Amino acid sequence: RILILDFGSQVAQLIARRVREQQVYCELHPYDVSEAFIRDFAPQGIILSGGPNSVYDVEDFKAPQVVFELGVPVLGICYGMHLMAAQLGGSVESSSKREFGYAEMRARGHSALFRGIEDRRNGEGHGLLDVWMSHGDKVTTLPPGFKLIGSNASTPIAAMADEERRLYAVQFHPEVTHTLKGRDILGRFVRDICGCGHDWNMPDYVGEAVDRIRAQVGHEEVILGLSGGVDSSVAAALIHRALGDQLTCVFVDNGLLRLNEAEQVMHTFARNLGVKVVHVDASAQFMGHLQGVSDPEQKRKIIGREFVAVFQAEAAKLANAKWLAQGTIYPDVIESAGAKTKKAHTIKSHHNVGGLPEELNLKLLEPLRELFKDEVRELGVALGLAHDMVYRHPFPGPGLGVRILGEVKAEFADLLRRADAIFIDELRAAGWYEKTSQAFAVFLPVKSVGVMGDGRTYEYVVALRAVETQDFMTAQWAELPHSLLGKVSSRIINEVRGINRVVYDISGKPPATIEWE
Ligand code: XMP
Repeated sequence: RILILDFGSQVAQLIARRVREQQVYCELHPYDVSEAFIRDFAPQGIILSGGPNSVYDVEDFKAPQVVFELGVPVLGICYGMHLMAAQLGGSVESSSKREFGYAEMRARGHSALFRGIEDRRNGEGHGLLDVWMSHGDKVTTLPPGFKLIGSNASTPIAAMADEERRLYAVQFHPEVTHTLKGRDILGRFVRDICGCGHDWNMPDYVGEAVDRIRAQVGHEEVILGLSGGVDSSVAAALIHRALGDQLTCVFVDNGLLRLNEAEQVMHTFARNLGVKVVHVDASAQFMGHLQGVSDPEQKRKIIGREFVAVFQAEAAKLANAKWLAQGTIYPDVIESAGAKTKKAHTIKSHHNVGGLPEELNLKLLEPLRELFKDEVRELGVALGLAHDMVYRHPFPGPGLGVRILGEVKAEFADLLRRADAIFIDELRAAGWYEKTSQAFAVFLPVKSVGVMGDGRTYEYVVALRAVETQDFMTAQWAELPHSLLGKVSSRIINEVRGINRVVYDISGKPPATIEWE
């Protein structure tokens, strides 16, 4: 097992994820854990993360000395490298000038860390690595016993090692995907240098997570807002595995869900898994409050507010509940931390269940806080959830509310639901669902003229949207085959009375957004 000490890096969790990818068990802890803790943990190797500080600025922001005394391999990354240098007798130069982004590093010597790992070679046959840097300070003198193992023009000491003591340090970030061979380098460290075996996998993780939840919650009761989305579904399945009937889920039907969604959620959770689910049909309440409202942000606020109201009313009925469970995943944790410091321009206010806890006076249970989306999906599968449910495209909190342009009406939601289901069915049948990141139909409240049989029609328009994206910050429209689009269009027009025209959205993000509102 690997111990990762966190010095306040933005990407420390990413190190943990990369180690888990190697099927090696690891834990991430703050840098100032006690010496006894580290000894008890008995790590086979230690990784020191990056961090925002300068080694000479903050006196006590150091690695516990025991890290270097245990005799296990240590890998310092960025700030972790500076610490290693400073604490072991080398020197570090502070600089306000930052090196940020891609860099080419030449591997030197024959270090165990990089041996056989390279992106290409230069004319003299030296291995070159494409790495990602983000630092101001750098190591200027190697500590005694260390050798240079990587350099480039702007950072002459970009990597160093004391092979005898198995201490390694790199200035770049092997944990980010921009460092192309980062996975191999971390794999080399944890597997070959530390000698960790394949001791971590998702089914084992289920066991660990279950134990943690039981220890945290004891015999108290938990409530969870189940939306049918991936995160809350996996959280529900996991907590149910740990606590059984101590968990009650509240599923709020706001009238803006996809076709048969409520039935599917009740089927999966209540019937198949035996989870206690309170199904609240609040569609009339939501529709009532949305009447006459056409501004997208206003609609989001109303839907968010009504959700809180309905959830609170249900929570009040569960007098014994002491915990509020949420499907918060790691990217949400960084995003909300970032949102506090950065004053990002609000393009859309994405509402989440956030804001509930304080008013409810409940303790927070967030068992997925450390996991990335793909790990959450794997966990879902390990818990026995259906593949199709766990690998679903994201669906926004306000649901069809932001896919019906302008005022939301039950009649529009009904038409849209049916059109959307046809689109998704056909995408799945054609094998395109997995190839797109998000796909859906949008209801346009404009009428256009058509002809059907001998008659003139005057009906609504549906737009189809399908995008490919890595991070949802930018996206390309998917080049769906014309034959597929044609089939979807004719099925919608033939099967959904009230729609007589279907168009395909060919705008990228930016300048458009993925959703239409
Ligand atoms: P946009 O439309 O901003 O969407 O390009 C990016 C991603 O965010 C989702 N989205 C939302 N999710 N509440 C949510 O929970 C919202 O109000 C919301 N608006 C957009 C969108 O579906 C896409 O995945």
